[in-house]
Amino acid sequence: MVIEPDSPEANSAGTDLYEGFDPKTRAALDLTADALVQPPTKRGGPIVRIQNLHKSFGRERVLDGIDLEIERGKTTVVLGPSGTGKSVLLKHVVGLIKPDNGEVYFEDQRVDTLSEPALVPIRKRIGYMFQLGALFDSMSIGENIAFPLVEHTQMDASHRAACVQRVLSLVGLDGYQDKMPAELSGGQQRRVALARAVVLQPCLVLYDEPTTGLDPVRADVINELILALTRQMGITSIVVTHDIASANKVADRMILLHQGAVICDGRPDQVRASDNAVVQRFIQGEADASDLEKIRRAFAGESDTPTLFQEARPDP
Ligand SMILES: Nc1ncnc2c1ncn2[C@@H]1O[C@H](COP(=O)(O)OP(=O)(O)O)[C@@H](O)[C@H]1O
Ligand SMILES: [Mg+2]
Repeated sequence: MVIEPDSPEANSAGTDLYEGFDPKTRAALDLTADALVQPPTKRGGPIVRIQNLHKSFGRERVLDGIDLEIERGKTTVVLGPSGTGKSVLLKHVVGLIKPDNGEVYFEDQRVDTLSEPALVPIRKRIGYMFQLGALFDSMSIGENIAFPLVEHTQMDASHRAACVQRVLSLVGLDGYQDKMPAELSGGQQRRVALARAVVLQPCLVLYDEPTTGLDPVRADVINELILALTRQMGITSIVVTHDIASANKVADRMILLHQGAVICDGRPDQVRASDNAVVQRFIQGEADASDLEKIRRAFAGESDTPTLFQEARPDP
């Protein structure tokens, strides 16, 4: 089930997610804003196609034959524990990492064989919210958001300023142009990163761990914004996360990565109903039983191998 942003479930804690947002921002989030709305793309078929993708770093095999099609206009969430290759997978979509084997297509154009200059027009159409937001510390909020416009458009300064103002308003940060990233809270910084990811009106946005490290209320603001921007701008979204609550909120479809492969792919209700033990463990947020046993034994001093836990214990 995908929870509608304005349903009671979406706001079960009774918190006003847009508390402090001015009326204009609230209105903009009500899917009525016009200036940024693009007609939904008319083309059919998947927007991204990944075939038999393999990627290793040294002897570590990270992606081991991924096949994936990303449906247009939907939010696909890629789940998996830390270190399973979720970020590596996203980077392949924009050609930041080249595969050892396999093929990556965006809008039927093969991406993985393109040169850096040939990738520029593709990157213009794909917004990327990097892990932890990755704002430029020495640039103001306005300069951070304008950065893709400076890089990729001929816009004059006043037009850029209007675009910056527009997306800042969309994420509830009207008037923050001249502040520096360090002056903002973690949640506000993520909202700026989100604004920067959509300022070029991309048709696809890649979100890398958009809610990681945020408290549940602030995480939910980001979830709501992802939903609102996806719908308002007709965007296709790929959200990479290990936050199952966030995934439940935004996903039309969930994909679970495990040991370099897709082990589950379907609607959220289908994934939740999976009888695969690894899938269940992940969505219930449980550690592997054998890992728990290792930790218990280590603390009890029964482990044969020296562990971090033993080293951390004071000398008797
Ligand atoms: N550029 C790189 N060079 C070497 N190893 C990398 C590189 N990028 C990622 N890795 C390794 O690939 C594995 C998967 O990383 P990543 O995709 O960041 O995981 P996550 O699922 O947490 O996003 C990790 O073991 C990581 O250390
Ligand atoms: Mg990652």
